[in-house]
Amino acid sequence: MKTLVIYFSRTGHTQKIAEAIAANYGSDIEKIKEVNDWSGVSRYLAAGRDAMFKRPGSIQSAHKEPAQYDLIILGTPIWAWNLSPPMRAYIAGHKSKLNQVAFFCTEGGSGGKRAFRQMADLIGKQPVATLEVTESDLKTGADKEKLNTFYHSIGHQTGGSDDGTHA
Ligand SMILES: Cc1cc2nc3c(=O)[nH]c(=O)nc-3n(C[C@H](O)[C@H](O)[C@H](O)COP(=O)(O)O)c2cc1C
Repeated sequence: MKTLVIYFSRTGHTQKIAEAIAANYGSDIEKIKEVNDWSGVSRYLAAGRDAMFKRPGSIQSAHKEPAQYDLIILGTPIWAWNLSPPMRAYIAGHKSKLNQVAFFCTEGGSGGKRAFRQMADLIGKQPVATLEVTESDLKTGADKEKLNTFYHSIGHQTGGSDDGTHA
């Protein structure tokens, strides 16, 4: 099974999980890049507002062709109880090329399930597995157990390995 991890991350949490998933599967990985560099505290409110009003962000063209992969694993931070605008923009531009999908997110504490429902609606497909990681999980190491559960779900749903490696 050929897998591709596509993620957006501004402060590194989602990137950490994305890299762990890609390493587990030996899969290709690509970060969604914004057209403008919005990092910095001053953009926090604008980012939340754009997410809340469901505006797609302005993103750079992606290099990987998702249609060439059996499973695309999409990861986003949660902003204002929504998926992030850059991930929304990626989905809008590529949804017809996504075969099987799985979703993951990182969050302060809430909003992930709602964002996953939004992503499934936007794509028009249910994910084979989902993974919601909180900032607390990252601090305590609880993310590792959640990752293993995620790998097992993917294995069961796709017919791949269910031991968490190289599905
Ligand atoms: C603009 C903004 C809005 C946020 N809104 C939420 C939220 O509604 N719920 C939540 O649990 N965390 C929220 N967070 C926290 C992020 O989801 C969390 O820190 C995430 O791990 C960041 O991922 P990243 O480091 O990959 O960018 C928000 C963060 C930002 C910057």
